[in-house]
Amino acid sequence: MENKIKNTGTATVTIGKDSYDLPIYQGSMGAPGIDVRSLYKQSGHFTFDPGYTSTCSTESQITFINGGEGQLLYRGYPIEQLAEKSTFLEVAYLLINGELPKREEFQNFSESITKHTMLHDSVENFFHGFRRDAHPMAMVCGTVGALSGFYHDDAHTTKDEARDIAIHRLIAKMPTIAARAYKYSVGQPHVYPTNSMSYAENFLNMCFSVPAEKYTVSPTIIRAMDKIFILHADHEQNASTSTVRLAGSSGANPYACIAAGVACLWGPSHGGANEACLNMLREIGTVDRIPEFIARAKDKSDPFRLMGFGHRVYKNFDPRSRVMQKVAHEVLDELDLNDPILDIAKELEKIALEDEYFVSKKLYPNVDFYSGIVLNALGFPTSMFTVLFALARTVGWISQWNEMLEDPTQRIGRPRQLYSGAVSRDYLDVDDRA
Ligand code: SDX
Repeated sequence: MENKIKNTGTATVTIGKDSYDLPIYQGSMGAPGIDVRSLYKQSGHFTFDPGYTSTCSTESQITFINGGEGQLLYRGYPIEQLAEKSTFLEVAYLLINGELPKREEFQNFSESITKHTMLHDSVENFFHGFRRDAHPMAMVCGTVGALSGFYHDDAHTTKDEARDIAIHRLIAKMPTIAARAYKYSVGQPHVYPTNSMSYAENFLNMCFSVPAEKYTVSPTIIRAMDKIFILHADHEQNASTSTVRLAGSSGANPYACIAAGVACLWGPSHGGANEACLNMLREIGTVDRIPEFIARAKDKSDPFRLMGFGHRVYKNFDPRSRVMQKVAHEVLDELDLNDPILDIAKELEKIALEDEYFVSKKLYPNVDFYSGIVLNALGFPTSMFTVLFALARTVGWISQWNEMLEDPTQRIGRPRQLYSGAVSRDYLDVDDRA
């Protein structure tokens, strides 16, 4: 990765009688940033930004979000165009390499991914160590972390050729692991990958086919699954991607880094929101109960939040939620399903977007608001929703991990703190303690 941010000026920080000049850097799009790397050395002061609301952790050329405009670009291409015209594997190539692949480049990439879809047979024993009622995310998190125990040749090095094979193995094996977790949780025999199928079709087949009968799935459903993966592929320096980068900054192996990303994504404030959102819509149950939940979401004394609403960056529509709403209609029409939950979701969205609280706080539906409805219609239990998010986001995580390793300015991430604990004091023997 070539560093391309440009120094466009100077910020001056004045502390008491002293002033400190800090360079301002500008990327190709988005807000500029004040480089505070020398601030502590110059002034003895840290910056303080819990939650990183005003902090850039890195330079990146992969994904750009304009939160005010509801814009999301993968390597400069609008998410709406990629969802409509591309495929998940092509988007994976784009995120990793920076350009859309030529025909032969994609052929080679796709073949390499296909050749790595199977799991080491000993992973089978690993799965049988879980309880049948273990959350699929627990199985995925554990299994991904354990992969470095099966693939030594690429796990303990960050050299280029080993990195490429680790990247391809992770993209190829995540659907197999995800489907394996689902089959184990429903007590069905696992289904091996079928290399003649497309990425999305193979995943659906591994999840829903059973030895007792032939499984067929419509091209519309396969396409919907592929679009859902595209929508979830990457999203700048979100919590789980930042986790992957921080783990990678110590030189941890790629499997351990992705497992760390899976763990972080699981939280209901992040990737776990799709599961939480569908559970919330089911709890609402009928349109006439919506005002009760809107009131709870606005009540500061109530920890309840409207799942699938709000975003740290988007202060306008999350463009993914608009595409996802269209996919929801496509899937429900194709399956001839009339899910009342979709009516509740649309009414909830309408009411919330007319409510002063949500308008003033710029809270819009995010990617998780409609995804649960689609995934439910496709036949996935809510416990699998975040697993699907992790499957797709593995492409973004591994692209960001790869970019970090190629960044000449990369160092181990080690934030500081403002300490407010006990000041230095001497040990007290037990009989001298008050
Ligand atoms: C994802 O970062 C990414 O890019 C994430 C993601 C990705 O692709 O990687 O986009 C995926 O995680 C989407 C977000 C999924 N999470 C949810 O849907 C959970 C519900 N949303 C909230 O928990 C919240 O909106 C967050 C966590 C998404 C964002 O939190 P922030 O940016 O820290 O915002 P905040 O908590 O400071 O909220 C600002 C105000 C607060 O009110 P005040 O204290 O200012 O009075 O808005 C309120 C909040 O109480 N608020 C909500 C709300 N979200 C924010 N109130 C009710 N319901 C909500 N959903």
